[in-house]
Amino acid sequence: MRITRRTALAGAAATLAAPAGRSLRQRAAGKGLLYGSAVSADLLRTDPAYAALVALDCAIIVPEIEAKWAATEPEQGRFSFAGLDWMMDYARCHGMAVRLHNLAWGVYNPPWLAGALASGQAEDVLRHHVSAVAGRYAGEVLAWDVCNEPSDPRWNQADDLVNIGWKKALGAGYVDAAFAAAHAADPNALLFINDDLLEYEDAASQAKRDGYLRLLPRLLARGVPVQGFGLEAHLRPERKLAEKPYRDFLRELAGMGLVIHVTELDISDRTLPADVATRDRALAALARQFLDVVLDERAVRAVLTWGLTTRHSWLATAPEVARTDGLPPRGLPYDGLLQPTAMWRAIASALDHAPGR
Ligand code: G3I
Repeated sequence: MRITRRTALAGAAATLAAPAGRSLRQRAAGKGLLYGSAVSADLLRTDPAYAALVALDCAIIVPEIEAKWAATEPEQGRFSFAGLDWMMDYARCHGMAVRLHNLAWGVYNPPWLAGALASGQAEDVLRHHVSAVAGRYAGEVLAWDVCNEPSDPRWNQADDLVNIGWKKALGAGYVDAAFAAAHAADPNALLFINDDLLEYEDAASQAKRDGYLRLLPRLLARGVPVQGFGLEAHLRPERKLAEKPYRDFLRELAGMGLVIHVTELDISDRTLPADVATRDRALAALARQFLDVVLDERAVRAVLTWGLTTRHSWLATAPEVARTDGLPPRGLPYDGLLQPTAMWRAIASALDHAPGR
């Protein structure tokens, strides 16, 4: 179904559970920021109450699955764009910006890709894919996550890059090749590296921040068109935020001329007690603490949560983040009944208190 102005308005007219007053979209706009969420085309089509909340609160969306390799090129040379085409229409009708995610990752790749990478076709396969996918939406996309989660100090790589299939095939230059192809396909999109586990005080997070402060200058010095850095921010209340070192890290990124987006904010309440009020207090406090630090940095231009409601979220299903007692999670702006959570209010308040840009 193609989106028309009429279907867009019908969605917006569905019963809203949103809090009275200004939406997250409006509060962010007042500060020169975009607020938005990861979304699913199927769910936007089939769950009108959810779609109405997305239309209300989001000025930017990112497809949770639809732009990944397994979705866009399920068989070599056969592209599938139905979900993404629909989503681009949806965004246009609602006046939303779009981030797309992603062009080179070690996860959610189609089964044929490993064989193609191992058989010497890597560079052609990469160029063909990026030109077909990024080229199709050229001029319509605010930002592309070109390389997703490319670094992880736990694997102790001398060049700060994880040894995924792309690197095995092309060496560290796979990053250069992916960014060059993305820039050629869509010269207007901001091109990002996107990564997680950067926020904490522990040695692993510190090593990861240090790794990026080595890797990014190397890439920029050799002219790789990296223009943005995505902070995933899948937060965990049991790990302490590294306020000062994290602020310093963001300052360094900004000093390199990079735009920063918070790309996947959510909080796993897996280790919190069952009591809802206790959980909500901890989730709201952590969201507020994190956003206060991040929004102080003027290079941060967008905040996206990884989903708007726990009705549809990996927080409810993925073993590494879901609760073990079966209770529904609460670490997103709306709960499973689409009622605003304490986290909605924490995000709203953090946006209200953020310096303008
Ligand atoms: O498509 C099948 C569906 O047919 C089937 O009914 C269902 C049953 O499990 O599985 C469906 O596929 C799953 C897909 O999500 C859609 O729900 C895949 O198995 C599952 O691997 C996939 O997981 C996604 C994961 O990335 C891998 O792409 C998660 O939803 C998504 O939230 C997660 O997102 C990542 C970001 O891209 C990068 N950062 C971390 C973040 C969380 O892991």
